[in-house]
Amino acid sequence: MASTTTQKVTTLTLHQKKERGEPIVMLTAYDYPTALAVDAAGVDAILVGDSLGMAVLGYDTTLPVTMEDMLHHCKAVARGAKTALLIGDMPFLSYQVSVTEAVRNAGRFLQEGHMEAVKLEGGRERLETTHAIVAAGIPVMGHLGLTPQSVHLFGGFRAQGRTAAAAKRLLEDALLLEEAGCFSVVLESVPARLASLIRKRLTIPVIGIGAGPDCDGQVLVLHDMLGFFERFTPRFVKKYADLSAEIRRAVTDYAAEVRTRRFPAPEHTIEMPEEEWEALQQNLNSP
Ligand code: KIV
Repeated sequence: MASTTTQKVTTLTLHQKKERGEPIVMLTAYDYPTALAVDAAGVDAILVGDSLGMAVLGYDTTLPVTMEDMLHHCKAVARGAKTALLIGDMPFLSYQVSVTEAVRNAGRFLQEGHMEAVKLEGGRERLETTHAIVAAGIPVMGHLGLTPQSVHLFGGFRAQGRTAAAAKRLLEDALLLEEAGCFSVVLESVPARLASLIRKRLTIPVIGIGAGPDCDGQVLVLHDMLGFFERFTPRFVKKYADLSAEIRRAVTDYAAEVRTRRFPAPEHTIEMPEEEWEALQQNLNSP
């Protein structure tokens, strides 16, 4: 039976869930209040994704996101989330330049950002880096398929692994990441039957986003599933709320009440005892 998480989740918990065939629930969060809410709802893992560049910083891609941006948001999330496994997403150029830099930056996620694992994008080209980070004692989650930091290489945010050759390469990459020590791998925007095949071949949990139902778990970007934006959201996103409409309604009501002097009402107003008011008047009127 699927259970809601109440005990501290570790990478081991995720492995056990895969073994039991229990779906793993993962969501992004970027700040203290969303971390509090997502954690209290009992998700298994929180990803402080570099998607924060698009979801909360207003960039068109994740590429401008820096280590400092990530650590700033990780710290806030760690203050709010006490139960879920906390995974920090390594931003563009924090792990591609050299293995040494990658290990140092991964370590900063744990030491300064208070994360418990890191995620990085790529397959066979990341094996040495993955191995070195894991050797430093830091759990690594892989990320294959539509890896957003390679958006320009792909020619846009496009589904991956749709040809036999590309699918075979993705399966090989997933197996190599498992061998390099990843504790889990995210598959983004790939055909459902390919994800299902990869899930069955891997012993580590496969977390899907736009990868169909037969994954060991699912992840979504919180701001997409809450309907924070009216802008385009990918087809694989299900909107569980329409927060942008709700925020607009609330702000429109506030503006109207301020303009018509209906806010603040007496219950929002601080009173002063009558005798103190009288004393003030006398004081002001005395020469
Ligand atoms: O940055 C992010 O939020 C991600 C998820 C989409 C997996 O990488």
